[in-house]
Amino acid sequence: MAKITTATLKEKQLKNEKITMLTAYDYSMAAMVDAAGIDMILVGDSLGMVTLGYENTLAVTMDDMVHHTKAVVRGCKNAMVVADMPFLSYHISVEEAVRNAGRFVQEAGAHAVKLEGGQERIPVVKAILDAQIPVMAHIGLTPQSVNAFGGFKVQGKDLETANKLILDAQALETAGVFSMVLEGVPTKLAKRITESVSVPTIGIGAGHYCDGQVLVINDMLGMFKGHIPKFVKKFANLEPLIIAALQEYKQEVEAGTFPGSEHGFTISDDVLEKLY
Ligand code: KIV
Repeated sequence: MAKITTATLKEKQLKNEKITMLTAYDYSMAAMVDAAGIDMILVGDSLGMVTLGYENTLAVTMDDMVHHTKAVVRGCKNAMVVADMPFLSYHISVEEAVRNAGRFVQEAGAHAVKLEGGQERIPVVKAILDAQIPVMAHIGLTPQSVNAFGGFKVQGKDLETANKLILDAQALETAGVFSMVLEGVPTKLAKRITESVSVPTIGIGAGHYCDGQVLVINDMLGMFKGHIPKFVKKFANLEPLIIAALQEYKQEVEAGTFPGSEHGFTISDDVLEKLY
């Protein structure tokens, strides 16, 4: 399998082949996602919730993201790695945004960055693109706006906000983003947005008309105890399996049945006999 690039994604879209994306936050999981042939890995700031145990994404820092992106990149052979720009890393100034996007590429080896927001982000998007860093946009239910939205609420349900999302998508496309995430928008609005832009749309809680889909890996593998949104399908339920394995380990260690002789290393009798 060849390395996935922005050109591969465009080819898939033109051939009507769906694009696949999942999050990952560490080396081992990234290697499994890559081995499964998933096109893109998002090092999402959702790591704040599923890996770091925060209530939302707002506390995640650039240093957190760079650290985890490095691990994910080391686990990937073919998947394209997109690093999520955390809250306040692209809001203060265009210069800071470019420097932070550059850290993901230079320090961590990411192939692209993602940032949340619509028309208000155009200057930042253009400046990052000017530094030759591909940008993925993210509109709709943008989790970094949780306080401004008054909760994690589906976006674009009325005429005004739905039209704004279409205009946001078109402006981001004109600015040059290679793709955009549509999160938490009604299925038929996501269809309209997908039809009104030429770049691939990647949906999460946006229905099946998008050019591709993304999910948070801990949610879809059943490995997260917190709130699971309605749009998540659990493709596995690993949490009970993991807890059962851990309980079996505890029981065997306590009973003295683990480790068995096959888990140990030998030493010759000759050496043993000469020990003090
Ligand atoms: O942080 C994340 O995982 C995301 C996805 C939900 C798209 O932004």
